[in-house]
Amino acid sequence: MKAVAIQAFGSPDGMEVIDVPAPAPAAGHVLITTEAIGVAGVDVVIRRGALAAYGFAEGHVPGGEVAGTVTAVGDGVDASWIGRRVWAFTGVGGGYAEQATAPVEEVLPLPEDLSAVDAVTLGSSGVVAHFALAHARFAPGESVLVRGAAGSIGITAVQLAARGGAGAVAVTTSSAERGERLRALGATHVLDRLGDGDGPAGYDVAIDVVAGPGMPAFLERLDPNGRMVVVGVVGGQPPADFGTTLMASFRKSLSFATFSAGTVAGPARRAVRTAQFAAATRGELRTVVHEVLPLEHAVAAHRKMDAGEVFGRIVLVP
Ligand SMILES: NC(=O)c1ccc[n+]([C@@H]2O[C@H](COP(=O)([O-])OP(=O)(O)OC[C@H]3O[C@@H](n4cnc5c(N)ncnc54)[C@H](OP(=O)(O)O)[C@@H]3O)[C@@H](O)[C@H]2O)c1
Repeated sequence: MKAVAIQAFGSPDGMEVIDVPAPAPAAGHVLITTEAIGVAGVDVVIRRGALAAYGFAEGHVPGGEVAGTVTAVGDGVDASWIGRRVWAFTGVGGGYAEQATAPVEEVLPLPEDLSAVDAVTLGSSGVVAHFALAHARFAPGESVLVRGAAGSIGITAVQLAARGGAGAVAVTTSSAERGERLRALGATHVLDRLGDGDGPAGYDVAIDVVAGPGMPAFLERLDPNGRMVVVGVVGGQPPADFGTTLMASFRKSLSFATFSAGTVAGPARRAVRTAQFAAATRGELRTVVHEVLPLEHAVAAHRKMDAGEVFGRIVLVP
């Protein structure tokens, strides 16, 4: 089968289409013939070599989110999965391939009306957005800031906050055109990356996909009892003295948290994902697909990611 491997860390050019034997599903796993493969921010981070210290080596096949049809099952998995169209989280990689394996507890049947492309756009990011808002104890009427709203996590967080009755939903983004697209999804105020623009003076909740050097300035915009939840680090690490900013706001009783969907119990993730897939088929939750490209064009997909061109998600199809 064809797969795309990171043969050399660094630029997208280090990725290559290779021919490898199809993987065999281990015990507790299923084998999926892929129809759609999500290109995630973390794939880019792995490709750059930034996670080499965590065991990612050259030769790695990236990709954690696929949709397709189950063709075989490992020991201990009910054979009735075979032939079913599913969404799956493959784990730390293996997704950029014509066939991929996934642990059965990370596999979800696809509703008939949801395309494989839409499923890999929403499947993982939607859950992060949902639980990040819950982690922030977001309540109707509150004002929400989504920092880094143009990615698939932010796009869903904007919609969930708006549908959840937020008093205001402000977003940061790099262009007016993106701002208009985010308004169409529920944003009420559009700010630039520095947070300048016509937004509320303060926020109850900030969902931050960016972190990086700019993070303290956004913490300072929280109203008393405000909560900031960081879900991503697309802008890098925050300054080392971030704790000083937090303590300087002591009298505002602020809360700061990180959030990783990996800490949510599997059945809870599954329930939310199922509900979101159903909401997407009813048109209540929109998926934003930036572009669909052939699997062999993974290098081009990563170039677009590096150039910051992507609004929503790029999806690869074998
Ligand atoms: N917490 C979890 O469980 C979880 C799960 C999966 C992934 N993640 C993390 O989530 C992140 C990816 O999320 P995503 O795909 O939604 O995001 P993304 O598309 O990679 O980035 C979101 C947006 O942030 C803006 N941005 C990029 N660099 C920036 C910078 N230096 N300063 C300010 N804004 C910047 C860009 O929009 P504009 O150009 O419009 O500003 C970009 O579209 C990764 O860090 C990944 O590790 C977390």
